[in-house]
Amino acid sequence: MDKFIIEGGRPLYGNVRVQSAKNSVLPLLAASVLTEDEVVIREVPAITDVTCMAEILRGLGAEVTFSEGNVRIGGARASNHIIPSSLTRELRSSVFMLGALLARFKRAACAYPGGCDIGLRPIDLHLNALKRFGVEIAEREGYIECTCPRLSGADIALDFPSVGATENVMLAAVMAEGRTTLAGAAKEPEIVDLQNFLNAMGARVRGAGTDVIEAEGVGRLHGTEFTPMKDRIEAGSFLIAAAICGGEVETEGVRAETLGLLLHKLRENGCKIHTKNDKIKIVSSGRLRCNRRIETMPFPGFPTDLQAQMTALNAGAEGGALVVENLFETRFKYVPELLKMGADIEVRGRTAFVRGTGRLHGAGLTAGDLRGGAALILAALGAEGNSEVGGLIHVDRGYSDFEGKLRSLGAGIRRVRI
Ligand code: UD1
Repeated sequence: MDKFIIEGGRPLYGNVRVQSAKNSVLPLLAASVLTEDEVVIREVPAITDVTCMAEILRGLGAEVTFSEGNVRIGGARASNHIIPSSLTRELRSSVFMLGALLARFKRAACAYPGGCDIGLRPIDLHLNALKRFGVEIAEREGYIECTCPRLSGADIALDFPSVGATENVMLAAVMAEGRTTLAGAAKEPEIVDLQNFLNAMGARVRGAGTDVIEAEGVGRLHGTEFTPMKDRIEAGSFLIAAAICGGEVETEGVRAETLGLLLHKLRENGCKIHTKNDKIKIVSSGRLRCNRRIETMPFPGFPTDLQAQMTALNAGAEGGALVVENLFETRFKYVPELLKMGADIEVRGRTAFVRGTGRLHGAGLTAGDLRGGAALILAALGAEGNSEVGGLIHVDRGYSDFEGKLRSLGAGIRRVRI
């Protein structure tokens, strides 16, 4: 078990090359089982969610090898259609393997999924959508068992633009017989990346990035080599870190429009933002005003995966902020940890009422989920005095060498074994 020792109050200066997007790489790995040919995904981040997904693929019988930052998946011998419960519980994203496994093996089974403990995260949208392809679903002793001798293209509408359900439908549709139309699709940039990857494998999908996605099923997909998009949430986390600590930081690899409302919100805080192509530069004095209101929404709204980090920023800024979380019902679990740092925040249901205190102080903290953990680290970097942050197992799921990158910007942070 590791923890971070953080010396707060140092400004951040420099450049960050952003890692490939976790939320793109995971569905791409799931999609790799659609073919028997070799698939290469370049520049995969060294995060534990990726290692866990690789274990799932190995469990299915695929050969998975990492070298020089790339991952090579050989699916020729994949034959198992069951995702072991130990791994599904660890990685909720494994639920979108169902669509891919059904397309390849006509059968799929996984345990009820796990992932971050940030609310109920039901999977009804996934299962209802799969049923539209003719899939029969039985739930037995915590396992979801799906069978479908023939996947038939279908007209599907999602009641809510779920990212995972949209990806699941795409993975089933590319090899279903005939045409599938998905209305009410999620529009996140990672879905466009998945479409590009599937089309590089020979699929015929279009419309990703809009409400309606269409796929014409093909009989067979072939191997490909692909470089995923960069991680907009990692970039956003570094920009928020620089805003909190003060200084001047430039991220490279992420375009401004993929960050939804984040950059507008940072300007409201008093930061200066300059963007050019895939570079975003932030200049901050470290003395920030609160945002009046931040409300998480599906893309292109404010991303829920940056909500905790922005609440941390507001807790140490001046004024008052309302933070409304519309996507996950219990995504404020990190707030009691911020209170230990002197924050003044009251949570009522889906809303956090933040009274900015101007500056937080260091404390002993524990991360309880991935983005909440990142928020505590950013708060500690900007706080007066030293902090310790445990529970890094959650942070390592999504940030590769977080401390090394922060240190290169001048942060006082080191990892120690406990
Ligand atoms: C993905 C991202 C996650 C991000 C989230 C929202 C990955 C690996 N993870 O998660 O980082 O926070 O999008 O941007 O890409 N829902 C249902 N029924 C379902 C499916 C979802 O009610 O069948 C609800 C969920 O409980 C939640 C909301 O829909 O309240 C959003 O979930 P969804 O968009 O599916 O998120 P994920 O794909 O799990």
